[in-house]
Amino acid sequence: MYDVKNSIYTYPGSEVLKNKLNIQDEEKLKNYEVDMVAFKLSTIEKHIKKTYDENHLKAIHKHLFEEVYDFAGKYRKENIEKENFRFSEYEYIEENLKQIMKKIDLEQLKKLSFDDLVIFISQIMTDLNVLHPFREGNGRTTREFIRELLYDLGYEINFFLIDYEEILNASKKAVVDETEQIALLKRSIQKLEK
Ligand SMILES: Nc1ncnc2c1ncn2[C@@H]1O[C@H](COP(=O)(O)OP(=O)(O)O)[C@@H](O)[C@H]1O
Ligand SMILES: [Mg+2]
Repeated sequence: MYDVKNSIYTYPGSEVLKNKLNIQDEEKLKNYEVDMVAFKLSTIEKHIKKTYDENHLKAIHKHLFEEVYDFAGKYRKENIEKENFRFSEYEYIEENLKQIMKKIDLEQLKKLSFDDLVIFISQIMTDLNVLHPFREGNGRTTREFIRELLYDLGYEINFFLIDYEEILNASKKAVVDETEQIALLKRSIQKLEK
């Protein structure tokens, strides 16, 4: 859970995010959310326009979470932190996300060596994590975005085959040092046989 006092997104006196089914039990909400996102991921290819810009990221978030939260596909409107790490000020999300997305140029990326591509991918993941554009679901949205990007560059990554704790710890460390995240990505990305 995020450390937010008096969040505008939770039920009064609770840390449970307001949701479309009005589930007020944290565990039940988590289970519903996890199942729904897994199902939504299985149908995403039909629904998303891969434009590699802010609209693309918002479309992934909207698709994954639209049955669960009203804020699906929308930037957060409050500041959040986790374990004393404060994510970007919410007022700057729109502008900062555009800056991050401007770095993605598929034709340029196709020219990079594998090692340089992995460094680039790691930086985008870290940028998106530090920005944390959505109130919940940033990790899953980012990983799907990266999966699609790598696929279009001729590579495959299956984040579900990687130990979640390992991804989590590497991404936390990456805000100061990306070495571990880069190594993890290097091990996990395969060239697609076409
Ligand atoms: N202390 C932290 N410092 C930096 N990043 C963190 C920290 N704790 C969690 N994160 C990042 O936040 C992500 C979780 O964001 P969240 O919005 O809950 O998305 P999801 O539930 O889809 O994983 C983690 O995957 C991790 O990358
Ligand atoms: Mg989460």
